[in-house]
Amino acid sequence: MKKRIFSGVQPSGNLHIGNYLGAIKNWVELQEQYDSIFCVVDLHAITVPQDPKVLRQKTIELAKLYLAAGIDPQKSKIFVQSHVPEHAELAWILNTITKVSELERMTQFKDKAGKQNREGVGMGLMDYPVLMAADIILYDTNLVPVGEDQTQHVEITRTLAERFNQKFGETFVVPEAFVTREGKRIMGLDDPTKKMSKSADSEYSYIALTDSEELIRKKIKKAVTDSGSEITYSEDRPAIRNLMNIYSLLGDQSISDIAAKYAGKGYADFKSDLADIVVESLRPFQERFNKLSDEQVLEILKDGAKRVRPLAAQKLSEVKQKLGFVV
Ligand code: TYM
Repeated sequence: MKKRIFSGVQPSGNLHIGNYLGAIKNWVELQEQYDSIFCVVDLHAITVPQDPKVLRQKTIELAKLYLAAGIDPQKSKIFVQSHVPEHAELAWILNTITKVSELERMTQFKDKAGKQNREGVGMGLMDYPVLMAADIILYDTNLVPVGEDQTQHVEITRTLAERFNQKFGETFVVPEAFVTREGKRIMGLDDPTKKMSKSADSEYSYIALTDSEELIRKKIKKAVTDSGSEITYSEDRPAIRNLMNIYSLLGDQSISDIAAKYAGKGYADFKSDLADIVVESLRPFQERFNKLSDEQVLEILKDGAKRVRPLAAQKLSEVKQKLGFVV
């Protein structure tokens, strides 16, 4: 039997090259060897306020982006989280074995909650990792391909799966995170100390997968660099290191080849070539994206939900029996 992978993205904000290089690019490769399930996690998106019209549009758009990136619905199952109610039901059950203190310790929760007055922080934001755990263990997932910012959530998923197994008997597979070295954390173009983020204040922080050629060139030109002018890869040169990671992953060239190529050259040459690479690698992707119709994508999503639902229902029924529910 093939091992299984599961991953998801929230349909909020613009999908950027950080999401692509940290997660989706790996999904495309992994779908060849693994039984793959990819989800558009709308229940996660509503943990912060969403405009219903925009959410609907972003949900379809995100599924289109999966397909345009190379997720093949013949090989992988793609679906919308809210189409499979077992996710929310299992999350509730997992809540009963989760400690509040465990959720309070989550870095992402602290970051997001810290921006608001704690009095006004929604319960959904805190409970978010439990829903993510439910997403993953509902399908006996072995591997979870994500960026580094999600590894703590995979860790708590492992804790909850082990805890349930211990209390009620072997039920869940304990999953592992799959993270790649260069893509795990793509940083903001305007501030290389912060990760590239969909919810960044400035659009010059990220390159969206749907950005026009002109905008991509402008953003790369404006990207901050380190002091000095050499193209070298080191810890103390976070800006150029980040740009070299992007160059390496999208241009399919090793870091050492890139460093050799730009020895004695300056930022202007490097940035201009980087812009070409980003534009060229996004072009075929954007062409595929523009060809997909909403109706076509909705059909694929509905079919995906139909294919995963029996798996989810079977696991949930096993869970309910173990808990002593009358079924
Ligand atoms: P989300 O929507 O914030 O991000 C989607 C994926 O993109 C990765 N990522 C990055 N990788 C590298 N550099 C960056 N700057 C960067 N920014 C984001 C994220 O690590 C993620 O892999 N909770 C999840 C969604 C989710 C999920 C799941 C994932 C819900 N259920 C089950 C895996 C399995 C999230 O909010 O990702």
